[in-house]
Amino acid sequence: MGNIPALPIILILPFLYAAALTVPVPKVSGENLTELCSRAVDPTFCVESLESDPRTAASDLRGLANISVGLATSNVTAARRLVERLAEQEADPVLRGRYEQCSGLYREAVKELKKAERSVGKGDFGGMGEWASMVLEKSEDCSDEFTVPPEEPAQLKESNRNVQHLCNVMYVIAVAIVG
Ligand SMILES: *[C@@H]1O[C@H](CO)[C@@H](O)[C@H](O)[C@H]1NC(C)=O
Ligand SMILES: *[C@@H]1O[C@H](CO)[C@@H](O)[C@H](O)[C@H]1NC(C)=O
Ligand SMILES: *[C@@H]1O[C@H](CO)[C@@H](O)[C@H](O)[C@H]1NC(C)=O
Repeated sequence: MGNIPALPIILILPFLYAAALTVPVPKVSGENLTELCSRAVDPTFCVESLESDPRTAASDLRGLANISVGLATSNVTAARRLVERLAEQEADPVLRGRYEQCSGLYREAVKELKKAERSVGKGDFGGMGEWASMVLEKSEDCSDEFTVPPEEPAQLKESNRNVQHLCNVMYVIAVAIVG
């Protein structure tokens, strides 16, 4: 008598296993980064940057917006420190002047990213996209300081490039949300 209830379970178990193996696990909130980042200037950079944050795997677009602002903030802060250090160390007045210009631009960019962060907090993703464009402009103005020789140092070139691509990633995410 006591064994009777066990029988249906034995019969059902194989079906449950089969179901678990064949039914794909639905993606509850994770975004398709390949698809999202195909809209970026540098899709590989976009995927790799976002994947560098472990929260990305389980993030929806709003979460990714927050993550992208964080990545841009960390890069812009590093770029500002770099140009400040270069300005302090430079003997050539032409180059020093350019680094000082870049310092001013990046100080502005840091403030603008704080505003972008506030926009994300308020759910204003249109605003976030606009601040991304403003920060991009600051970084491009810094690059433009070097259109005539002396050349932009490789370290600054890379830093500017990363900032510009991260602004683009912010923008792509904002547009994906706002539509
Ligand atoms: C992500 O999007 C790409 C391009 O549209 C597609 O080929 C791929 O199958 C998608 N992957 C997932 C897991 O949905
Ligand atoms: C800047 O962004 C790039 C690309 O995401 C990343 O590899 C690098 O570590 C970042 N640098 C800083 C200082 O955050
Ligand atoms: C946004 O990211 C920051 C870290 O960059 C984190 O402290 C904060 O909790 C995040 N906010 C949301 C709503 O995910």
